[in-house]
Amino acid sequence: MPVEPVLAPATGSGPILELAGIGVRRGGAWLLAEANLVVMPGERWVVVGPNGAGKSTLLAVAATNLSPTVGHVRVLGAELGRVDARTLRPRIGLTSATLAERFDPRLRARDVVVTARTGALAPWWDTYAERDQARALELLRQLGVGDLAERTFGTLSTGERQRVLLARTLLPDPEVVLADEPAAGLDLRAREELVDSLAGLATRPRPAGIVLVTHHLEEIPPGFGQAMVLAGGRVLAAGPIDGVLVDATLSAAYGIALRVEGRDGRWTARRA
Ligand SMILES: Nc1ncnc2c1ncn2[C@@H]1O[C@H](COP(=O)(O)OP(=O)(O)OP(=O)(O)O)[C@@H](O)[C@H]1O
Ligand SMILES: [Mg+2]
Repeated sequence: MPVEPVLAPATGSGPILELAGIGVRRGGAWLLAEANLVVMPGERWVVVGPNGAGKSTLLAVAATNLSPTVGHVRVLGAELGRVDARTLRPRIGLTSATLAERFDPRLRARDVVVTARTGALAPWWDTYAERDQARALELLRQLGVGDLAERTFGTLSTGERQRVLLARTLLPDPEVVLADEPAAGLDLRAREELVDSLAGLATRPRPAGIVLVTHHLEEIPPGFGQAMVLAGGRVLAAGPIDGVLVDATLSAAYGIALRVEGRDGRWTARRA
């Protein structure tokens, strides 16, 4: 008889994601040290910090793509190391700007979206249900790129690709969405549309947890109530966004005097 994989338990009301005392060491340096992050159901987190702060490393750990040197990771109630990470991955949606480079530019946008079902980078035609095809078209439409569904991925602009990749992330209806700079390279209108999409996503019960990495406070969607500031691999502050995105913390993170403003759920920062 085939052996069933050990499935992670349903999450219930426990944390969606728990990173405890995480350290990642590479080539003698700690890329991340003593990092803690607990994402409860319904929480939407934003992570900011300078280039090289460790933001993408943190997301890679959360996505179970990278094992930390020290610390414990629990995703959807399951402790990594005790549960096969492959059983968790379909429940975690990771999107990043660098993912775009890994797809065959000759694939149609809609085919890139349906590859989410298997996590493959190329489609396996016979395994995609019609339901997935229909859902892919619906998600592309919701993200404002429905008319690009038949275009090949290689002919799309950076911003168009980002939206196709977000549709891909959402296809399996993941419980956790981890988005690494999804607004990178977008023009003002495309950015605002993406912010709207993410704000809409934030209001739904699913995904239960969202973690968004961004460089620009303007890209933080309304409804994101928690924030973390990382610098030099260390967490400078984490918690309710109003207490974290403050002048002193961001000035310390970036090494210049900054003035931060939050109004109507949107944020800006500029030199003080
Ligand atoms: N395999 C590795 N060996 C050594 N250093 C690495 C390795 N992978 C990443 N780094 C370094 O770790 C640091 C953190 O990288 P990470 O990609 O997490 O930063 P980031 O906050 O996402 O930065 P960015 O804003 O530029 O995307 C960087 O200084 C990077 O050069
Ligand atoms: Mg990064």
